[in-house]
Amino acid sequence: MRRIHIAPSILAADWSQLGQEVSALEKVGADWIHVDVMDGRFVPPITMGAQVVQALRPLTALPLDVHLMVTPVDPHIESFAKAGADILTVHPEAGPHLHRTLQTIRSFGVKAGVALNPATSIEAILPVLPAIDVILVMSVNPGYGGQAFIPYTLEKVRRLRQIIDERALPVLIEIDGGINNKTAPSAIEAGIDVLVSGTAVFETRRDLPGHSYASAIAGLRGGK
Ligand code: DX5
Ligand code: ZN
Repeated sequence: MRRIHIAPSILAADWSQLGQEVSALEKVGADWIHVDVMDGRFVPPITMGAQVVQALRPLTALPLDVHLMVTPVDPHIESFAKAGADILTVHPEAGPHLHRTLQTIRSFGVKAGVALNPATSIEAILPVLPAIDVILVMSVNPGYGGQAFIPYTLEKVRRLRQIIDERALPVLIEIDGGINNKTAPSAIEAGIDVLVSGTAVFETRRDLPGHSYASAIAGLRGGK
């Protein structure tokens, strides 16, 4: 049985108290902290830079899972690695030489991730699978939290699960976008290892009486 990791995305957190948000998540059993970096170019919004990763680093023992929606991405790898990222995930469209980018990430002792947009085929990464530690299947188009889950992205998860298992590769499959307690079961069934969730973890706490981070995380794991 695969262990399912939960990676709350702090995109949907209360940014005026990010440190407390991350500590609260750690206390209730989050596995990774997902950090969405947007540059206003690869995707329209601008979010946070390496300083935020650096500020969060001493506050948590959890892996910082940094999703770079940034182009060109190569000039930013070193600063995020030195800021304390544990995983750096790039989009294949964000630079001319994906394999070189992945090598650069690993050269800093950081795990290398690749994100597949809904329209990006898994063939874009199959030739470089040995250079990848995490595959992030986007189940929405990148750029915004709170979008609706695109169910047919799970077809890519199924194919990847089969390939990874057949070859016994040490690669994790992560899914990102529209994950809540209704969509998580189908993603788990398709073969993911890591569920990213922003809105379902954070915003419902403010909207739903009695909701807590603990219950949100339990719900994603299939607890209720
Ligand atoms: C979208 C980001 C996601 C986002 C997910 O570009 O990559 O990580 O925070 O948010 P929800 O869970 O609200 O879809
Ligand atoms: Zn993300």
